[in-house]
Amino acid sequence: MIEDVFQQMYGAPPEVVVRAPGRVNLIGEHTDYNDGFVLPAAIDRAITYAGRRRTDRRVCVYSDDFKASVEFDLDDIQKAREHTWSNFLRGVSKFLEADGHRLTGADIVFGGDVPREAGLSSSAAVEVGAAAFWNKMLGLELDPVYVVKLSRRTENEFVGVPCGIMDQFISALGRRDHALFLDCRDLTYRHVPLRSDVKIVVCNSGVKRALAQSEYEVRLKQCREAVKRIAARGRAVKSLRDVQPSDIEAARGWLDNVLWRRAHHVVSENERTLEAVTVLQAGNLERFGELMNQSHESLREDYEVSSKELDVLVGLARQQSGVLGARMTGAGFGGCTVNLVRAEAAGNFAQAVAEGYERALGLKAEIYVCQASDGALISQ
Ligand code: GLA
Repeated sequence: MIEDVFQQMYGAPPEVVVRAPGRVNLIGEHTDYNDGFVLPAAIDRAITYAGRRRTDRRVCVYSDDFKASVEFDLDDIQKAREHTWSNFLRGVSKFLEADGHRLTGADIVFGGDVPREAGLSSSAAVEVGAAAFWNKMLGLELDPVYVVKLSRRTENEFVGVPCGIMDQFISALGRRDHALFLDCRDLTYRHVPLRSDVKIVVCNSGVKRALAQSEYEVRLKQCREAVKRIAARGRAVKSLRDVQPSDIEAARGWLDNVLWRRAHHVVSENERTLEAVTVLQAGNLERFGELMNQSHESLREDYEVSSKELDVLVGLARQQSGVLGARMTGAGFGGCTVNLVRAEAAGNFAQAVAEGYERALGLKAEIYVCQASDGALISQ
C-alpha cells in the first residue's frame, strides 16, 4: 500500500490520501475530440497519492512504480527530461498556481495498479490524482469539472500529448456500479446503472500502444479536415458531432474515401452510443452487446485503429458462451479489449480467452474482471 511506503520513508503516516481510478470505455470511441458522446466506467484499479505539507515551497515526490524520487520548486516548475513520470504532477501544480491557487511544499508518495500504456488511462489517473491531492490537502474546494479541464490541459499543453476529455472526466467523476454518459460538447453527464448480473471484463493484449500517439494526431487532423470539407459544401457544421447520418451518406460520393471512412466512424459511433445508453437503461443488454460489436467493426474498418492482437482477442471473446459484446477500448494500436460477459460465465471466459490468445499468437494476455468504481472527486 502506498500509505505504508510513505510511513516507511517518513516515519509517520501521511496526512492526506487520495485515489484516482483508471477507466475502460464501454462505447463512444474517438468521439470525444469530435464533440461527441462517450460511455466510460472507472475501474477498480487506481493511482494513490499519499502526502503531507512542508513549510517551504519544495515538492519531494517518490514514484513507487518507478522506485525513484525527484524534487522541484513550486516557484520554478519546469518540464523534466528525466523522470518524466513527474511531469503530470509538475504540470498540474504549475497550472493550479497560474490560476491563483497558492500551493505549499509537500512530501508525496504515489503509485498504483493501473497498467501503463495499456489504454486504461493511467496518465489521466495520475493527473486527476495530483489535482485531487492538492485539493484535499489544502482544502481548495475545486469544482470537479475544473479539475477535469486542468488535468486535460496538463496532458495537452505540459506533457504534450493530444487527447480529448473523456479519460480525465471519468477518473474524476465515475461512480461505483455505474457507467458515465458524457456529452463532450457541453460536458453535461449522467450516471447510468450497470447490472450486477453482467461483468465488464478487460483483456490486456500486452502490446504497448506503439503507434498510438502519431496515429491519434493523424485521426484528429482527418476529422477536422472532413468537417472543413463538409462545411465548405454549405452545411452548418462545427465538428463531426453536427454531421447527421444522412449528411454522411450523401458525402460518400464526393468526399475523399479515407476522410469519409473516418467521418463515418465518428457519426455512426455517436448514434451507437446514444442507442447504447437507451438500451442500457432499459436493461436490453443483448442489444448493448451488438452495438459494442458494431463499434469494433467500425474502428477496425473505417477508423483503422485496431491491431491484429486486438482483433484476435475480440474474435476469441465472441466464441465464448455468456458474452454479450466485445470490442477494443481506448485509442487503439494495442492496449485492451472490453467485454460484457454474464457474471456466471466470467471465470470460464477469462481462462478460455487467455489460453486461446497464447495458442494463437504465443502472447500472454492479462484479464481483469472489473468493478465500476468511484472517481476521485465524486461526492457520496
Ligand atoms: C484516448 C484519449 C481519449 C479518447 C480515446 C479514444 O484514450 O485520451 O481522449 O480520445 O483515446 O476514444
